[in-house]
Amino acid sequence: MKKRLLCFSLLLAVMVSAQEPAIIPKPSRMEMQDGNFNITPSTQIVLKGPGLEKAAMFLNDYLQKFYGFKLAVTKAAVSRNSISLGLEKMESAIAGAYHLQVNRTGVQIKGDGAIGTFYGVQSLVQLLPVEKKKELTVPALEIEDQPRFAYRGMHLDVGRHFYPIDFIKKFIDYIALHKMNTFHWHLTEDQGWRIEIKKYPKLTQVGAFRNGTIIGHHPGTGNDQTKYGGYYTQEQVKEIVKYASDRFITVIPEIEMPGHASAAIAAYPELSCFPDEATKHPAKVSWYGDSTGKQVQQAWGVYPDVFAPTEYTFKFLENVLDEVMALFPSTYIHIGGDECPKENWKRSAFCQQLIKEKGLKDEHDLQSYFIQRIEKYLNSKGRQIIGWDEILEGGLAPNATVMSWRGEKGGIEAAKQKHNVIMTPNSYVYFDYAQNKQEDSLVIGGYLTVQKVYNYEPVPGALAAEDTKYILGAQANVWSEYMKTPAKVEYMVFPRMSALSEVLWSRKESRNWSDFEKRMEKQTKRYELWNASYNKKYLDPANK
Ligand code: ACM
Repeated sequence: MKKRLLCFSLLLAVMVSAQEPAIIPKPSRMEMQDGNFNITPSTQIVLKGPGLEKAAMFLNDYLQKFYGFKLAVTKAAVSRNSISLGLEKMESAIAGAYHLQVNRTGVQIKGDGAIGTFYGVQSLVQLLPVEKKKELTVPALEIEDQPRFAYRGMHLDVGRHFYPIDFIKKFIDYIALHKMNTFHWHLTEDQGWRIEIKKYPKLTQVGAFRNGTIIGHHPGTGNDQTKYGGYYTQEQVKEIVKYASDRFITVIPEIEMPGHASAAIAAYPELSCFPDEATKHPAKVSWYGDSTGKQVQQAWGVYPDVFAPTEYTFKFLENVLDEVMALFPSTYIHIGGDECPKENWKRSAFCQQLIKEKGLKDEHDLQSYFIQRIEKYLNSKGRQIIGWDEILEGGLAPNATVMSWRGEKGGIEAAKQKHNVIMTPNSYVYFDYAQNKQEDSLVIGGYLTVQKVYNYEPVPGALAAEDTKYILGAQANVWSEYMKTPAKVEYMVFPRMSALSEVLWSRKESRNWSDFEKRMEKQTKRYELWNASYNKKYLDPANK
C-alpha cells in the first residue's frame, strides 16, 4: 500500500512539474494551485491605483500583437473575469517586487510600486499559451517575486551597423520581457555617428555615412563599395526614450570619447590633434572612395586619430552633451573612455605642453584629465558618468561608475576604490562572441555558450564583503561589427539574454542549469511566437 501511495505521489509530482509554467527569470517563490482561469476578449483589466496604465498598456499591446485581441480597461469594481492591477507595500531593497495570484475567477497582480505591477504583467504573459488563440488558459498559482540586482542591462552598438527605429523598439520590448531595466545605447563610433546634434549638423551629414564596408572578417577580403549609414533624429530619440520609459526602462546614451572618434573627426577635423593629416587605416584594409582628408572608417578596430584635449574639443563635447542631456533624462551618461591609443597625443606638441602645464605624468594622466573635466561638467548639470574600465588608468574621476569589460579586474579594482560598478566582462556577457563551435555566419570570434552565461556570478568572489554593495548589476554588450540585420542581432542575443536575465533577477541559490534548460523549451516557443530569430543549436552536444 505504502509503495503504491509513493508511486502515486511521484506520478502526481511529475504531472504537476510538467504543468509548471516556465517563467524566465525564475520567480523567488511560486506555488501551483488547483484550477485555471481563461482570459478571453470579454475579460477586463481593472486598475486599482495610480500609475498602472503602463502595465495595462503593455499587456494589451502583447495580447493584440500575439493573440489578436485587446481587453477593456476600467477603474470600476469588477470581481469576476478580470485581471486586477494594484499596489501593495513590500519589503524589497530593490524596486520591482510583485505578488501575482491566479484563481478560477481571475488574476490579481499587486506591485511594490507601478514598476512591480509591470513585472507581474511580465510573468503573466509567460503563463499564456504559446499558440495564437482567443481563449488563453492560465493555471491557478501564486507567485511572490523580487529582483536581485538594481542594474539589469542590455547594450546595443548602432555605430558599426545601424538599425531602424522599429527594431530599437523591439529590442526594448525584449528587455522588458526579461524584467531588465536598462538600455545602453552606443551611439557614436569610428564607423558612424548616429544621433542628430542640431548645433553640429555635419556630425550626421558627414559622420553618419561611410563610403563602403569591408567584406568578411577584419581586415576583410574586399570592400562592398556601397555607401552605408543612417542616424536617429532628435524626434526619434525622444520617441525611443518615451517608449522605454513606458516599459520602466532607462536609456543610457553613450557618446564615446576620447577614442573611437573617427566619424566625429571626419565631420569636424579640428577635433583631431592633426586636422590636416588624412585618416589612416591598416594597409590590409581594402578602402573605397575618397581617401584624402578625414574619413569615416570602413573597417572595424581601434584607430589612432582621437579627440585632441583642446578647448575647441571640450566646448564641442559640452555642446553635444547639452543636447544629449536634453533628450535623455537618465542620471547616467556613458562617456566611453575605452581603447584610446595615445600615439597622437605623444607626438602632439600641444598635448605635451598641456601635460607639462597641468603637472601630469604621461598620456594616461592626460586621459584621466580629459575624463575628469567631462565628469565635472556633467556633475554640474546633475548627471553622473559611466566609463569603460580604462578610465581607471591614470586615476578614476571622483564620482565615476565603472563598466568592467576586460574581465572582472577593473570592476574589482573600482569597487575596492568605493566606486559603483556595472559588470560586463567579455568572458561572460559579450553577446557578439560565437555561441556555437561551428557558426553558420560570420562572428567576431570568442566563444560564449548560454550555459556559461547562465553560470555567471556578477559579484566577484575576490571582493571583500563590505565592497560587494558597489556591484550594481551587470549587462550584456552587443557589438555589431558582424550583425548586419536585426535578425542577426536576435540570433546573437537569444537565448543568452534569457540566461542573463535569470542571473540578474533571480535568487542566487535558485539558479539551476537543468531546471533552466527545461524552462528554455517553452522559452524557445515564445521566441517563435515573437517571430524572433534565435540560436537553435544552443544545446548541441558539440558545444559542450
Ligand atoms: C569595449 O568592448 N571596447 C568596451
